[in-house]
Amino acid sequence: MLLALAILLLASPAPSAGDRSFCSHAGGTYKQNSSYMSNLRSLADALIGDAASLHSATGAAGEGPDRVYGAVLCRGDSTGPDCARRLREALTTVVSDATGGRDACALHRDVAVYLELCQLRFSDEDFLSAFSNSPEWVTITNPDTVPHAATVQFDELVTELLSALTDDAARQAERFAVGEAPWSWSQEKAEHTVYGLAQCTRDMPPELCLSCLNGILAERQNKIGGGKKGGAVFGARCTLRYEMDLQFFNVTGNSKMLSLSKLLHN
Ligand SMILES: *[C@@H]1O[C@H](CO)[C@@H](O)[C@H](O)[C@H]1NC(C)=O
Ligand SMILES: *[C@@H]1O[C@H](CO)[C@@H](O)[C@H](O)[C@H]1NC(C)=O
Repeated sequence: MLLALAILLLASPAPSAGDRSFCSHAGGTYKQNSSYMSNLRSLADALIGDAASLHSATGAAGEGPDRVYGAVLCRGDSTGPDCARRLREALTTVVSDATGGRDACALHRDVAVYLELCQLRFSDEDFLSAFSNSPEWVTITNPDTVPHAATVQFDELVTELLSALTDDAARQAERFAVGEAPWSWSQEKAEHTVYGLAQCTRDMPPELCLSCLNGILAERQNKIGGGKKGGAVFGARCTLRYEMDLQFFNVTGNSKMLSLSKLLHN
């Protein structure tokens, strides 16, 4: 009930920052140069520094009403200075120096920003200890659909792939997994490949990473709709994405591509 309320409150999109930013108006605002702002800045600096080497970081800073909780994450294939630069850019949309309030979410206490390669979430409420994934951002990245008669078979394959990636991500120290699965439809000559990605913040214990990802996996078809060629659910703690015929991630040194066909035939 409380969680549902929190999702509702956070679900008012900020027009100027696009549909990827959430700020809770009920959460209130803070002032330029306030202790809350300086706590937010020092927490953000520390978390961004950690995320540049570890992909994600969570933590809190300050005392009493000025205490700030935060979580930042870079997608597993965005690392180092690249990760830090993207997070700092995202931060400017929620903390504004000079003009104060140029962006709809600026100076709000309760904010979340999701971008393709990085995300951040800050609040004066402790969203960390409950490992809450809210606010979740569901996006249909490719609205094209597979042939109607192939929908069920396609969605089953996507679920199988994302489910294998969920298990893998929870096992990896990085809490990140990417993979692929071949897909074809008997009435169509072409062979297709479905690519998928699963990631949790690194501080999630394996069983919580697993339950977070399984939670969004269970909602996927309802929220994204059947047969869609691409979709993603981003959350403060875990994220899933898949695309047909688009390898939207890089396979870097510390990740390997999980192949569903190999997995099933072993
Ligand atoms: C914030 O502090 C800076 C530097 O101390 C000052 O120039 C600025 O006017 C202050 N802004 C507000 C809104 O108090
Ligand atoms: C993936 O690799 C391409 C080509 O090298 C690069 O342009 C892109 O920025 C990389 N993506 C990430 C997330 O690092």
